[in-house]
Amino acid sequence: TDALKIGIAGLGTVGAALFRAISTRHNSLAEICGREIIITAVSARDRTRDRGLDLDSVAWFDDPAAMAREADIDVFVELIGGDGDPAHAAVLAALGRGRHVVTANKAMLAKHGVELARLAESNGVLLNFEAAVAGGIPVIKAMRESLTGNSIQRIYGILNGTCNYILTRMQRDNMGFAECLSEAQRLGYAEADPAFDIEGNDTAHKLAILTSLAFGTEIASDEVYVEGITNISIDDIHAADELGYRIKLLGVAQRTASGIEQRVHPTMVPKGSMIAQVEGVTNAVTIEADILGELMLSGPGAGGDATASAVLGDVADIAKSRPGHQHAPALGRPATQLEPYRRAR
Ligand code: HSE
Repeated sequence: TDALKIGIAGLGTVGAALFRAISTRHNSLAEICGREIIITAVSARDRTRDRGLDLDSVAWFDDPAAMAREADIDVFVELIGGDGDPAHAAVLAALGRGRHVVTANKAMLAKHGVELARLAESNGVLLNFEAAVAGGIPVIKAMRESLTGNSIQRIYGILNGTCNYILTRMQRDNMGFAECLSEAQRLGYAEADPAFDIEGNDTAHKLAILTSLAFGTEIASDEVYVEGITNISIDDIHAADELGYRIKLLGVAQRTASGIEQRVHPTMVPKGSMIAQVEGVTNAVTIEADILGELMLSGPGAGGDATASAVLGDVADIAKSRPGHQHAPALGRPATQLEPYRRAR
């Protein structure tokens, strides 16, 4: 079988980690997938920046949309970020040219996910985005495939590694908010603009994607009530501690009689609960499903390697797929079958 050729757009923390993982595991990936995975093209803003990557044998594109259209690739991996262009234009170009897309871009999916899923389906290509929600935790695959047929009542969790890292270090080490945030940035957990993390928007983007998968509705990120952690002080954390609680930033989506409710806000959880034990950059998602019962997934939620692991899994899925084999649709059901979102009253 021919090699699977991939182009990586965005060589930041995640892009560089993915490049390294694919380069160093080339032989074992070829054995596992039954074909080679090779990086034939990359695109990033600054060609001269030293990332410690050997880019000599790959085509360089300044413009990711040009890479999507012109490069010799089967898969376009989008790791640029941001809900608008250049990421959105490049992904549209890639899908329009019949290339599979793998993306970690939750902001773009929260805004354009249904449109992109429709385009992927009508072009017969895959749109994989495991890395977009909860970093390395395979929650998209669980929702899209493993829980098929279950009716979901509620899905909630810790979906932002930066916030959980900050809250954990404030509580455990008595560190100030700003110092914790700087440390999360240094470790490669935070968004390019960390306001998205601490103000709760990143959690809202991820929640809106999970909501669509859980309830079969169109993605409605504007319908999420959002409150971040910027007003949480060490005093709040100590007061909660004395009462037997930890403070966590939770994203919660649930079905009610009148519609769906989506909210993101700091929440007091009992110290003895499982979710209270989720510390540092770790994320956790709990899913209440009627056939299965309650499922809790937890694991590394941010950072270059954890996120690259999820992206690599998505790429490998495509490498393993055989022509004529049908995959699960991006949002778990055909994008044309998604119900309109109905907000709880
Ligand atoms: N900034 C995000 C977080 C990265 O801290 O969770 C993973 O999406």
